[in-house]
Amino acid sequence: QMRNEINKLIESVQDPEEKRHFANEMQNFFMLFNRYLQEKARGEKLEWNRVNSPSADHVFAYKKVDGVDPKILDKLAVVCLNGGLGTTMGCVGPKSVIEVRDGLTFLDLKVRQIEHLNTEYGCQVPLLLMNSFNTQDDTDRVIRKYENHNINILTFQQSRHPRFSKESLLPIARSAGDDKAKWYPPGHGDIFDALHNSGLLDKLIAAGKEYIFVSNVDNLGAVVDLSILQSIMDKQAEYVMEVTDKTKADVKGGTIIDYDGQVRLLEVAQVPADHVEDFKSVKKFKIFNTNNIWINLKAIKRVIDNDELNLEIIVNNKVTDSGEAVIQLETAIGAAIKHFKNAAGINVPRSRFLPVKSCSDLLLIKSGLYNLEHGVLTMNPSREFQGTPVVKLGDTFKKVANFEKRFKSIPDITELDHLTINGDVWVGKKVTFAGTVIIVANEGNRIQIPDGTILENSESSNPDMT
Ligand code: UTP
Repeated sequence: QMRNEINKLIESVQDPEEKRHFANEMQNFFMLFNRYLQEKARGEKLEWNRVNSPSADHVFAYKKVDGVDPKILDKLAVVCLNGGLGTTMGCVGPKSVIEVRDGLTFLDLKVRQIEHLNTEYGCQVPLLLMNSFNTQDDTDRVIRKYENHNINILTFQQSRHPRFSKESLLPIARSAGDDKAKWYPPGHGDIFDALHNSGLLDKLIAAGKEYIFVSNVDNLGAVVDLSILQSIMDKQAEYVMEVTDKTKADVKGGTIIDYDGQVRLLEVAQVPADHVEDFKSVKKFKIFNTNNIWINLKAIKRVIDNDELNLEIIVNNKVTDSGEAVIQLETAIGAAIKHFKNAAGINVPRSRFLPVKSCSDLLLIKSGLYNLEHGVLTMNPSREFQGTPVVKLGDTFKKVANFEKRFKSIPDITELDHLTINGDVWVGKKVTFAGTVIIVANEGNRIQIPDGTILENSESSNPDMT
């Protein structure tokens, strides 16, 4: 039945070139769907007694390598995963065009970083953006402004898959051109097919590129590092995943495991319910995946040509705006680790993982805790030993527009440990927060923190501050 529905969707496309492309996407989807049905039928589960902590071969330590010849950069291309929208932070359009610091967007910062690299080392590292159908047009429009910069920016588009009903297991789209909300980008594991299908994989190899450095566009810590590239080349590793030490706050991230001697990624969704606590424990699995990943291009080509790619399926249950339960089948780039030779994790400093997922993260990034130079954010040295403060802003600060209205200026948080703000709270100019500060405006109350206020270890849920 799924096959019939897919054929109908394909028949709805008129243009022959478009039809060929779309049929190809649908074929990939159909394979994923069949694999999902088979796995569901077999009730395949990971066998916990075969899961071990990774060995020293599987995760090596980050080391600064002196005297790296910058010429190795000629063999590198940078890829940003740019398929996501800014919806969670209340923004329209690609997430990468959200302004994060000093009027610069995620994309501006990335461009600056690579331009600086190219200028400093006299190299030509290209920047590739993997877009989804949700971000392609806007991104193409935005990148025109970098035309005269010292950087070659290329874009390629990942596949578009049909969401299908949880009940009928059939696509909810009626034609190929049906509403955007009836389709989805199938996760960053799609990068392998997308690179190959766009022809970019062959082009990069022909241009003498050997490695790609892939990262989430919202990870401001994902900066090209010569020491890492050199270590990977020395080890002849085809795939290296940057991991970093877990804290209690990041127990949910995927981790590297040894599964019958093979290095694999383990995500919480794959863990049997009675072992979730083991998975989260910092003792057995000390590190997690930052999604900064270095991969050898010829190795990708081999894996694709041999048709070996078999990434674990992530079943993403969603509810449409009209209330229908639908399923999206996705894959993750990290799951590909098992396909590559000498694959390993590299345990990098926490500073290489600086994701911006919420306005709480945005407050930290915009604050004086970080310095910005050539698109790279570095933590103020005076703060480094204390770690980053914990910031929890409530729903009234969830959208970037509200966050910006509610903070007249970004407070001084140099001495802050913990900040919680909830409810109808408005923060004036040049405010200082230090120690643990909790400000909660109860239902119907409004709290206004006047300009210049200094709050140190203070808890306020009373309205008399207005
Ligand atoms: P996610 O939406 O997966 O964020 O996007 P996450 O859950 O915080 O990260 P993971 O999955 O644990 O690593 C991560 C990055 O991948 C891109 C997003 O734009 C973001 O930069 N992405 C995600 C794509 O490019 N395509 C997709 O289909 C999904």
